[in-house]
Amino acid sequence: MTVSKYLCFLAASVLAAWPVWAEERADGVAPEGQTAIGAAAQPELAAAQAAKDAGRPVAAEEWMVAAAHPEAVAAGAKILRAGGTAADAMVAVQAVLGLVEPQSSGLGGGAFLVWYDAKNGAVTTLDGRETAPLAATPRLLQDEAGEPLGFFEAVVGGLSVGVPGTPKLMEEAQARWGRQDWAGLFDDAIRLAEEGFAVSPRMAESVARDAERLAVHPETAAYFLPGGAPIKAGTRLRNPAYAESLRALAQEGSAPFYTGRLAKGIVAAVKGAAKPGALGLVDLALYEVKERAPVCAPYRGFDVCGMGPPSSGALAVGQALGILSPYDMTGLGPNNPQTWRLIGDATRLAFADRGRYVADSDYVPVPVEGMLDQRYLTDRAELLRPQRALEAVEPGTPEFDHALNWADDEDRAAPSTSHISIVDAYGNVLSMTTTIENGFGSRVMANGYLLNNELTDFSFRSHRDGVPVANRVEPGKRPRSSMAPTIVLWKGTPVLAVGSPGGSRIIPYVLSTIIAYIDWQMDVQAAVSRPHMVNRFGVFDLEEGRVSQGMAEALAGMGFETRVRGLNSGLHAISLEGGLRGGADPRREGLAYGE
Ligand code: GLY
Repeated sequence: MTVSKYLCFLAASVLAAWPVWAEERADGVAPEGQTAIGAAAQPELAAAQAAKDAGRPVAAEEWMVAAAHPEAVAAGAKILRAGGTAADAMVAVQAVLGLVEPQSSGLGGGAFLVWYDAKNGAVTTLDGRETAPLAATPRLLQDEAGEPLGFFEAVVGGLSVGVPGTPKLMEEAQARWGRQDWAGLFDDAIRLAEEGFAVSPRMAESVARDAERLAVHPETAAYFLPGGAPIKAGTRLRNPAYAESLRALAQEGSAPFYTGRLAKGIVAAVKGAAKPGALGLVDLALYEVKERAPVCAPYRGFDVCGMGPPSSGALAVGQALGILSPYDMTGLGPNNPQTWRLIGDATRLAFADRGRYVADSDYVPVPVEGMLDQRYLTDRAELLRPQRALEAVEPGTPEFDHALNWADDEDRAAPSTSHISIVDAYGNVLSMTTTIENGFGSRVMANGYLLNNELTDFSFRSHRDGVPVANRVEPGKRPRSSMAPTIVLWKGTPVLAVGSPGGSRIIPYVLSTIIAYIDWQMDVQAAVSRPHMVNRFGVFDLEEGRVSQGMAEALAGMGFETRVRGLNSGLHAISLEGGLRGGADPRREGLAYGE
């Protein structure tokens, strides 16, 4: 199915799902005093799509939501229009995303949330990261000889499943900052799950690509491969089991997920999976969302705030910005190979520190302040003075009052994940990145949703030459993440919410979007649409079909190994300067929409 046919199909199914729209569209006028959703929202979602296709940002005055699927955006818009907060809208958006974009995030996964509170100007970060079972050991991802398992050998099955955090995070955020009736936030997702939604081209492609792994567990195969064949774009897909889980969440809160019948369903699925996991009822019962200190880094007078450990996102973005601070990125501009040398090598330096020092700070002391100390970063920036690629990149030695004797980790995070940015009419801002890790997570389904494979975000190696790796598996620990939900502030006022999926490439995607917005003064749509050039560990990944031959040759001439490939970000950004402007990544199906 082509994208335009799919959009027509989607429009028809949205109309079917919301009879009030159909009613109002009959005469084209919303009844007096009623919100304009019926008459207005469908054409405006189309307008949002048209703006994205034309490379223009979507503009609004009151509120805005940007997420990875039009159905999810529509559900969030409905809540915001009715006076809900960004926290209320996030619940509706996440509930729909778990259905229509099941490969990326959902109730079986985890998320990090950054919140700007308009009432008091505070930035709060909530950690809803998945957690290793108490029975997990540093050998979890190794074979009997202590060698790392193959990636997919570890991913597919129950072994990789961590305790999901998303249901509790939704509940915690809405309890803190919501205004709407909790139960009502699930109406659209429940209706879509019961009546069916149109499978999108992206979901269908993902299923087709992964068919072999999706076939391993019968419940997963029955849903994604009905009759043994990958589900096609445009098929109306129903998920009664997911509707049932949402009803439980709506009526009873997250308790059934952590101590009730849904918890039993999760444990049974993990234990009955191809490679059974250690997750037990006690692990679910012990799960808690953690409020963490936000990690904020200064950049050109702005404060770039995000999620600290167990995420490496804000630390790595903040380090790279600090390393780039002495360089005139505005003067160099976005089309200069030297710009990308600097960004690429600053990112490599940040990744070297990340690989050695960053893990769950409840288990491993992480030198957060030392890593962001501008004197340290200025020293690191001096390494970039020569006009050529760095030959060798080693971690630095940030100041810390604790021994820092860790072995280097290796990176394995693969791209799935989803990002939600929301601004509400009260001025609150939400930036949340949500994941089940790999596309389709562990491929194990329970209660109508996929369970994560987040434990493979731990280091597969527990030690090197007798020295422990900071991000090794330990019981009850949270695996290191690259997710970088970000809110940028100017003198305490939020100016930008941004984040992306993309595994560890999330960090360079978010970093370069912030530079495009601040240094090159691009609007948010232009900033998220730019061609990607990404360097984490030495090889410069250049976005296929988007980066010029001249740029590739110039980078190679500086000594970089280059590789042309698809770079599948899913950036969703909202700027708050002079009204609201939204940008949605053209590489995915999402939209920004506001009023
Ligand atoms: N699983 C993606 C991340 O947390 O970085």
